[in-house]
Amino acid sequence: MDPISKDLNRWISILLTVWRRRRKYKNGPSDRLLPNELKEVAAGVKILSSGLTGKRELVGKGYMDDPALLGAYLLFYWPVSYAQARYVLGYLPSRPRSVLDLGSGPAPMSFASLDHGASEVVAADRSEPALRLAAELAGEAGEPLAVRGWDPLRGEKIPDGSFDLAIMGHLLNELWVGDSDEAGKICDLIERVSGSLRKGGAVTIIEPALLLTSRRLLGIRDILVKRGFPVLSPCLFKEDCPALKKEGNTCHTDRSWEPPRTAGWADIQDSFRDA
Ligand SMILES: C[S@@+](CC[C@H](N)C(=O)[O-])C[C@H]1O[C@@H](n2cnc3c(N)ncnc32)[C@H](O)[C@@H]1O
Repeated sequence: MDPISKDLNRWISILLTVWRRRRKYKNGPSDRLLPNELKEVAAGVKILSSGLTGKRELVGKGYMDDPALLGAYLLFYWPVSYAQARYVLGYLPSRPRSVLDLGSGPAPMSFASLDHGASEVVAADRSEPALRLAAELAGEAGEPLAVRGWDPLRGEKIPDGSFDLAIMGHLLNELWVGDSDEAGKICDLIERVSGSLRKGGAVTIIEPALLLTSRRLLGIRDILVKRGFPVLSPCLFKEDCPALKKEGNTCHTDRSWEPPRTAGWADIQDSFRDA
C-alpha cells in the first residue's frame, strides 16, 4: 500500500471515532460505517454533491455550519481532499515547515501538510463549527493545529504568522461568486496571502475539476502570471493558457488513487449506484 493510503487509513479511524462521539453513537468498527450510519452519511453526501456541482446552489453558503452536512463532508470529501493535498505537496521543491490552510473546513489539507512534514499549521475558515471539528480531530490525533476564524469577504485580514506555504483547498470557487470582478478580487487576495509568506514561500491552490471551476482557475492563473507570479507546477508556461482559447477546453491533473475501500468511502458511492 502506498504511504498516503496508509496514512489515510489511520485518519479514517480517527474521523469515525470523532464523528460517532459527536453523534453520540456507540463505538463501531474503526474502518467502516455500519449500515444505518452509512445511510445517514450518504443522505448528507447526496445534498452536498448536488449542491456543489450542477447549479451549485450551496457554493458560498454556510453548509459547513449544518452538523449533518459537516459530518457528511468529514466522512466523504475529507479523505479526497487529504489525498489531493498529499499528492500536490509532493510537487513542491521543499517540505514546508509552517503552513497556512485557508478555507480549511475541517482541515484535511492541514493534516495532510502535517503528515507531509510540517510542524506548525494554522487552519482558517469562516465556519466556526468546521474549525471546532478540526480542533477536535487534532486533539484526537495528537497533532498540533491552531485554528482561526477568517472571512475575506468581510475584509478580515490574513491570520498573523510567517508561513512557508499557504494552501487553499476548494476555496476560491466559493469566493465573490457572481461579483463582476470575481477573478480580480481573488488575485488581490492571493497577492495579500503571498505577502504573509517567508522568502521562497509558495501558494498551493487546489480547485474542483469541474469545467467551470477549472477554467476560472486558469483565468486566475493568467492574471497572476501577468502580475509577475512564477508558476511552479503543473505548467511553467509564461503566456496565456492556451486551454482558454477554445470553449469547453480545460486542463487539470488526473491522479489515480486507492480510495479507502474498507472505510465506507466506496460504500457511499456504491449506495448511490444501487439507488
Ligand atoms: C469545499 S470546502 C473545502 C474545505 C477544505 N479546504 C477541503 O479542501 O476539503 C470550502 C471551504 O471554504 C470555506 N469558505 C467559503 N467561503 C468562505 C469565506 N468567505 N471565508 C472563509 N472561508 C470560506 C467554507 O466554509 C468551506 O470550509
